[in-house]
Amino acid sequence: MKAQLEAIKSAAIAAVNAANDQTQIEALRVQYLGKKGELTAILKQMGSLSPEERPVMGQLVNEAKAVVENLITEKTTAMKEKAQQEKLKAETIDITLPAKPVKKGKLHPLNTVLDDMIDIFTSMGFDVVDGPEVETDHYNFECLNVPADHPARDMQDTFYLGENLLLRTQTSAAQIRTMENRKPPIRVICPGRVFRADEVDATHSPVFHQIEGLVVDKGVTMCDLKGVLEQFAQEIYGKDTQVKFRPSFFPFTEPSVEVDVTCSECGGKGCRVCKGSGWIEILGAGMVHPNVLRSCGIDPEEYSGFAFGIGLDRLTTTRYKISDIRLLFENDKRFLEQF
Ligand code: PHE
Repeated sequence: MKAQLEAIKSAAIAAVNAANDQTQIEALRVQYLGKKGELTAILKQMGSLSPEERPVMGQLVNEAKAVVENLITEKTTAMKEKAQQEKLKAETIDITLPAKPVKKGKLHPLNTVLDDMIDIFTSMGFDVVDGPEVETDHYNFECLNVPADHPARDMQDTFYLGENLLLRTQTSAAQIRTMENRKPPIRVICPGRVFRADEVDATHSPVFHQIEGLVVDKGVTMCDLKGVLEQFAQEIYGKDTQVKFRPSFFPFTEPSVEVDVTCSECGGKGCRVCKGSGWIEILGAGMVHPNVLRSCGIDPEEYSGFAFGIGLDRLTTTRYKISDIRLLFENDKRFLEQF
């Protein structure tokens, strides 16, 4: 009986060790340890033993059962573990996949040039001020010495939002707002978007950008205006750039000038860019009209000032040799990525 027990035990151990899935193990458990299992069957034969042998044999059977039981538990745990590992391995997320590249944006060329302008003027002591794009007739025209029947309004037709509101046609409106809010000495630039009823072509856009400059103080003269503009032009176009004043007319300045600089492309000799003249027109300027000072409560006997208005778009297209102003507003990435 003992030999039989040993044989069953080693067969069971070998079978469990050889098993390689849960179902096989479960079948082995039934086969050896179940109610009708082989080890249980041995216990049933105990009746044929003497009373002294019975407990000894009983203990041996129980030990054998325990060994097989433990082995089955161990094997089951090991198999569960292995299955879990395999599952984890199969389901891992590959975090080494390259991420989608994030494209870094860049400044729009208009902003690059504007930033340069702001640097130049703030280094000369100017503040940067802001004004609304939707202006009143009062600030955009009336206070700038352009009454309702003034012919200068024709050149600056715009979109009207009701009786008195309009899309501003010039950043000059900010002159008035500044003079109303600050006491001289005043030194400001006001960059911003302006609007005019213009046909779109290579050099015109109904939406464009200006930078208005304004200086008001005691004893300000046209020499100061020329000095500031010369300094600015040389910083933008290079040391050898010359500045030329041509008489002109603006209702809010007197005298008024158009300002030309020597062509940065040919240095003044004459080329395709300057249409052979050697000069490029970059801005309008003048001494602030006494009527304008008065409308803001500043005494023209005590103070004088100058103002200038620079076209940012023109400055940008000449700097980067951009042939068509429309490119600045189309937001075509193929164009913008070139800067
Ligand atoms: N506002 C004028 C224009 O848009 C430019 C300008 C500004 C002229 C300041 C003189 C002084 O045409």
